[in-house]
Amino acid sequence: MTQEQTLHQFLDTRVTAAFAAIGCTDAPALITPAARPEFGDYQANGVMGAAKARKQNPRELAQQLVTKLDLSGIASKVEIAGPGFINITLDPAFLARRAAAALVQESLGVPYPSAQRVVIDYSSPNLAKEMHVGHLRSTIIGDALVRVLRFLGHEVIAQNHIGDWGTQFGMLTAFLVEVEKGVDADMALGDLEDFYRRAKQRMDDDPAFANTAREYVVKLQGGDAQVNALWRRFLEVSMHHCEAVYKTLGVGLTRADLRGESAYNAALPGIVADLQAKGLAVTSEGAQVVFLDEFKNKDGEAQAYIVRKQDGGYLYATTDLAAVRYRVDTLKAKRVLYVVDQRQGLHFQQLFTLSRKAGYADDSVALEHVGFGVMLGEDNKPFKTRSGGTVKLAELLEEAVERAFVLVSEKNPELAEETRWEIARAVGVGAVKYADLSKNRTSDYVFSWASMLAFDGNTAPYLQYAYTRAAKVLRDAGEFDANASLQLHERAEQVLALQLLRFADTLNLVARDTAPHHLCAYLFELAVVFSRFYENCPVLKSEGALRASRLQLCSLTARTLKTGLGLLGISTLEVM
Ligand code: ARG
Repeated sequence: MTQEQTLHQFLDTRVTAAFAAIGCTDAPALITPAARPEFGDYQANGVMGAAKARKQNPRELAQQLVTKLDLSGIASKVEIAGPGFINITLDPAFLARRAAAALVQESLGVPYPSAQRVVIDYSSPNLAKEMHVGHLRSTIIGDALVRVLRFLGHEVIAQNHIGDWGTQFGMLTAFLVEVEKGVDADMALGDLEDFYRRAKQRMDDDPAFANTAREYVVKLQGGDAQVNALWRRFLEVSMHHCEAVYKTLGVGLTRADLRGESAYNAALPGIVADLQAKGLAVTSEGAQVVFLDEFKNKDGEAQAYIVRKQDGGYLYATTDLAAVRYRVDTLKAKRVLYVVDQRQGLHFQQLFTLSRKAGYADDSVALEHVGFGVMLGEDNKPFKTRSGGTVKLAELLEEAVERAFVLVSEKNPELAEETRWEIARAVGVGAVKYADLSKNRTSDYVFSWASMLAFDGNTAPYLQYAYTRAAKVLRDAGEFDANASLQLHERAEQVLALQLLRFADTLNLVARDTAPHHLCAYLFELAVVFSRFYENCPVLKSEGALRASRLQLCSLTARTLKTGLGLLGISTLEVM
């Protein structure tokens, strides 16, 4: 286990120490990667704020700071620029030492922070229907966060908060009984979307059926064995559909991660009673309601957060309150992430506020809604099939692989068909995931086959190809001295080494902001600087120690690309 600091932390410590040495004990160093190459590699931007606070000339303060800033052997140049920026250019020998250290570590030089127990609620589809594109974003963003946080040493508990409870299941189980009397049940359940639609139709058409459906809800909630068995069978089929999607996506969710709404059913009366006892829930028009002053409606009145309906039924909100308690008390989470559609933002704000008030989560526990925008079609409208229906995930992924197969076959007609399918699976699924992960999750994004499958630009195929290229160089090189010291003479070598060393800081940023797009941007930049290096610095044609040094840069690049893509849930190939 490595305990050293990342590049950013390292510079931050030094600049902070220099600030302290001139008496600015609370000035933040504000280290950022340099905005432009002529500003060096990093900039320390804390001087202006510190100068303002002490009413001092910023350039003078910068002068003072620089005399105390000990970066010998670390920076080759420290310059004061503009109103008081400090531009730092790192010493190639320092970069080489750090890169060499990263090379010998499996963690690629990523230091482990103090581990935290994190619960990540993601995917969480409603089992009444088939998984559709709406659940794609949650599943892949959640999966990437699980991977990154685990890689950083955190203890992650995945929670698939499936929608497996509620009145719909009365209708579905009642319909299942009808169907089984007639048609083959498995056939009918082969298409859950269709099954749901037909059940709904029966509800609308036949009052007797609607009655039975309502009776079934009561029986299900009352623990009736027969209806429970039907319900379980239905869930099993639905879960099977999800698992097929997880498998295609390469998402690691298992049965062990399932804890759906039904699991909290028994806890719901206790939650409402507790909220009443604490004076938080009050009776309003027969319902149990919490009025939170923090959330006002347009008339300036506190908004109602209903926890029990007039008919005694519980709600999504009640279940989520029970889940907060479970995650904090039983799972002992210190951070809980909810990877859920942005449109549920208000629900989560209310949930978090109420959980704090009720004492279900104190300030030592972070509760975060990791919201995301909607997926749009190329017409900029919500993503739908041509006939306006919801797009099934399974079909979407199948299409991705087929489209990738056509492209791969054009590029590499000489490869065996089975190999081309294998590449197509990695490229097709990778492209869909990357297109999603590379966008800032809070914005809506346009789903476009052409742009996600392009072999150039910020796409999965481009990055997968960059890995394959680096791997091929290493294969073609044969044996080389993996311990030869790194030489970073050319600017392209220095830039590549610096980018490689930024991996750890990038992952920390992804974890802090729950934003996988930072890792995508990083990997894209890495691929770009690698190809610039490769064009400018002969690798296989160079000789001796220089050749060995350049091959090591290729090796670290290949490993970083593979690991980084792996953290996004995207696989790499040796040949493509
Ligand atoms: N099943 C819900 C939906 O599809 C998402 C559940 C998210 N998790 C939660 N704890 N509310 O909208």
